[in-house]
Amino acid sequence: MRHLMNPLDFSVEELDKLFDLANNIEANPAKYAHACEGKKLATCFYEPSTRTRLSFEAAMLNLGGQVLGFSDAASSSASKGESVSDTIRIISCYADICAMRHPKEGAPMVAAERSGIPVINAGDGGHQHPTQTLTDLLTIRSLKGRLGGFTVGLCGDLKFGRTVHSLINALIRYDDIHFIFISPPELKVPDYITDMLTERGIIYREVIRLEDCMPDLDLLYMTRVQRERFFNEEDYVRLKDFYILDKAKLSDAKSDMLILHPLPRVNEISIEVDDDPRAVYFKQAQYGVYVRMALILTLLGIDV
Ligand code: NCD
Repeated sequence: MRHLMNPLDFSVEELDKLFDLANNIEANPAKYAHACEGKKLATCFYEPSTRTRLSFEAAMLNLGGQVLGFSDAASSSASKGESVSDTIRIISCYADICAMRHPKEGAPMVAAERSGIPVINAGDGGHQHPTQTLTDLLTIRSLKGRLGGFTVGLCGDLKFGRTVHSLINALIRYDDIHFIFISPPELKVPDYITDMLTERGIIYREVIRLEDCMPDLDLLYMTRVQRERFFNEEDYVRLKDFYILDKAKLSDAKSDMLILHPLPRVNEISIEVDDDPRAVYFKQAQYGVYVRMALILTLLGIDV
């Protein structure tokens, strides 16, 4: 039985197969419409989510399966003090596969150790968000035709952003990736990540202003300043509008740069940017459904 805790749980070759399957699903949805008939996906979300939970549910429904679960710790037995280990043992009796989001780093891993069914980490605290990374990689591969040879700018909350941490880990397996980290000093990418990049000889640069690197970027990954991970409101208010990507800032950008965002967006991308052909964040959300369909099929060992 296989779980997905970290994007690196799949080799580059396995990811290629997964993305081929996702592209095939995109081109040919009817072929997969009954692939998971009789199967159930449990979504156990101890932290709020719109996209991740609903895209998992949409993915399973598109495959002809069914879904059950909870979207809030308060409405689960966690509120009575039940451990994730016990919860997953119970969920294993009700469903065939589980997607779990938890505010504590490592909670889905603890669950996986006790689980009788595949567990997918749907985001654990500030740690990892592997299915968002699969979504990001599929979007880049589908729209650019490759995953190597890019200068990637990651902008915003690089300290708490689990999507950023997962994506960096995943991208360094491809050739010729350079990073530019764009953040205020308080929200810098953690040292363990920059140390790892230095150790591996991967080129990166840290800047404070978007304008300082815009012309260099092939991909710009914007992120939200995450209010829920701040210890005090004052710091959040001071930093929340540090970056606002608008048309004027894009005037220096490459004509084929992609603008990605895991969403939800707050103020960091002005809505006037949405119509720019480089803005692909809504397309990205659609790719999130295809890649989760491919992942469910792969973890359940279903061949269509
Ligand atoms: C991200 C998350 O939950 O980490 N969103 C998502 O899954 N699409 C980013 C965020 O909440 O800002």
